[in-house]
Formats: sequence, C-alpha cells, structure tokens
Amino acid sequence: MDVHAIREYIPALQNCIYLNAGGIGPSPKPVTDTLIRLAQQISEDGPDGMAFSREEFTCAKETRAKIAHFLGVDADEISLLRSTAEGFDIVGHGLRWEPGDEVIFGGGDHPAARAIWAILARRQGIHPIRLDLRDDSPEAILEDARRLITSRTRLISLSHVTSENGLRVPARELADLAHAHGAYLMLDGCQAVGQFPIDLRELGCDFYAAGAYKWLLGPFGTGFLWVRRDLLPSVEPSWVGAGGTISFDPETGAWEPLPTGQKFEFGARYWPVVPAMGAAIDFVSGVGLDAIAARSRALVTRMCERLSGQPGVIEFAPRCAALRTGMVGAAVRGMEGKELAARLQARGIHLRANRGPHGLTGVRLCLAFFVTEDEVDRAADAIAEIAASR
Ligand SMILES: Cc1ncc(COP(=O)(O)O)c(C=O)c1O
Repeated sequence: MDVHAIREYIPALQNCIYLNAGGIGPSPKPVTDTLIRLAQQISEDGPDGMAFSREEFTCAKETRAKIAHFLGVDADEISLLRSTAEGFDIVGHGLRWEPGDEVIFGGGDHPAARAIWAILARRQGIHPIRLDLRDDSPEAILEDARRLITSRTRLISLSHVTSENGLRVPARELADLAHAHGAYLMLDGCQAVGQFPIDLRELGCDFYAAGAYKWLLGPFGTGFLWVRRDLLPSVEPSWVGAGGTISFDPETGAWEPLPTGQKFEFGARYWPVVPAMGAAIDFVSGVGLDAIAARSRALVTRMCERLSGQPGVIEFAPRCAALRTGMVGAAVRGMEGKELAARLQARGIHLRANRGPHGLTGVRLCLAFFVTEDEVDRAADAIAEIAASR
C-alpha cells in the first residue's frame, strides 16, 4: 500500500495527525467531490431530480448494491439509513415481543445499539441482560454468553467492534450460540466497517446495522441496515411515510410496504450523501480491506511497543491479540483522559478521551490505514512527554 499516495486524497491529513476515525472519518476527495458536484447540480438544474428520487440522481440502487457487495449479501436486503441507531430502532420496534423476552446486550455497547432495549423494557416488558465482554480470549466471551442465554433469549445484540477499546467479538460463534437457542444475533458494525473484510453470510448474524462515517470514511449522517432475507417479513416498518411502499391508496389510506429492505426508507432525504457513501466504499475497497486490516494491526503493535515501558503511561488494548482491531487506548497516571486529550489536541493530534480498565480514563488512538509510522511515533512521544512533565 502506498500510504503517502493515498493520503494525498484525504485533505485533512495534510493539517493534523488524525487518530479519530472511530469518532468520524476524514473524507477522501471523491466523497467530498460527489457532494459538491450534486449540490451544484441541484442549484443549477433545479432540485426536482432529487425530490422525485430518480436513480440517475440518487444512485440509491447502485449504492445499495455497493454496500451489499461490500458485505457479501444481496442489495434487496439493504436499507439506506442515516445512522446505526436507526437500524437498531427499526429492528427493535419492528420485531414482535412478548413480555419476559430476553435480549443480551454488551456492557460496553454504544447508546446507538443499546437505548432501544431500555425503551422496549418499558413499553413491551422485555428483559435486557447485560454481558460484560472479558478481553482475555474469545472463549471467555462465549463462556459468559453461554451462562446468560436461556430459552427466553430472543436476541443477542452486540458491537461487532466496541468503541472504547476496539474489541472484536467472536461473531460466528455467537451467531451459532444464538441460533442453537432459537435466538437471533444483531451486530453494531459502526466501528467495524472499513477496518477489515466482512462477509455477513460467513459471520452468520441475522441483522447488521452500521454508520458509514467512521472507518469507512463516508459522509456524516449516513449508514445502513442489513436484515437477512427470510427475516424481512418479520420486521414490520414502524416509521412510514412516502416511499418504501408497493402501493398507497389515497382514497382508503391502504398501504403495502415493499418486501425488500427498501421498506424502511421513507420520507424526504438529502440524496447527495447516498452516492457519496458509495464513493467512500469504492475508495476503501480500492485500498483493499485485507491490506487495511494488516496495516492497522501493525500500527497498533508499533504504538503499544512505543508506549510500553514509558514512565507513567499505561496502554490498553484487549489483552488477547485475537480480539484486537485498529484501536488502542493510552492513559497517563494521575491525569484525567479529558485533560490528556485536550493537551494532545493542542499539539494537532485529533483523538478523543475514553475509558480504560479499572476506572482509568485516557485517550483512544484509532490507527486507521492512512496513519503513518512517523505519526504513531510522534503521538507516542507526545504522550510520554506529557507523562514525564507531570
Ligand atoms: C460502536 C458504535 N456504534 C454506534 C455509534 C454511533 O451511532 P449512530 O450512527 O447512531 O450515531 C458509535 C459512535 O461512536 C459507536 O462507536
């Protein structure tokens, strides 16, 4: 991978050390160019092409197909959304629940994938059951999940990759466990898409929702949902309006949704972000997901080596290497994560504070493929200097 050539396509990288792909990814030029070109077209030709959802303008079909290809599934199983939470809400509100149904969720899950279970506990009487992810081994996670699963479990809902320390769950084994108990597996792919190759049929999960604006480098406010084809009829649309229907009878109000994932796409939307999300998928696919994953792993190893042994610095990634992805945390003893983050930001290093183990707070270092070795070293040196100056 020619990292320096690739970086030329990402303008933000010329101005800072960008270690916050897990917050929001920096847009490559083809993404921004698509947005600008379409905004210009709307301005010059009139906006009705957008309002009437013509494929040559919206590229909705094409983008669903790109997402599907990217994830190894079919385009009619994909819904174009604006965020991860929208996907979780669609599935959560769309399935039928009985009081006492159990949902196992991850203790470190983002509210995007977690708030829905609290709402359904209140409204439908479901029981959310918390699974704290141990980072010693995939087997430890499975052992805990086996302990929690019961005949009442309807769904296991987890981050594919957690946002605090980048722990990647053993998805295939969790899917097998869920299915053996007649339950489903839903994954939050927001921190996973764009980090490594994903084949959802191989993973064996049932529902997968993700934002496209982190490691995938799509525009902010874009995302998607995949619902396994045979489960589409079981997920009733809860938010409806114009679009997503086979028919709507203005006389009677009778309404019939499409049988595809498109049934969850309703109402007015700002279409230019959709082809721009497609441009992001093309960009990341062009770099190559295998190469991206290998590079991030190497950068994480380098960062851990640079940080370990520095006085007052604690680095934290999942203890088991098999659970790691492109993120590592770092804390300075006796310093709040927010303060450390602010000091690093003042040096032009973009990142955010996060929580570590044992009540520690520190910063999250997202080592996406576009980060250079030199930037890893400079960030590690900056953390060591801050620790030494205390
Ligand atoms: C694991 C995870 N899921 C979801 C989100 C964001 O969700 P949404 O796209 O609904 O804003 C984040 C953002 O930080 C995240 O880390």
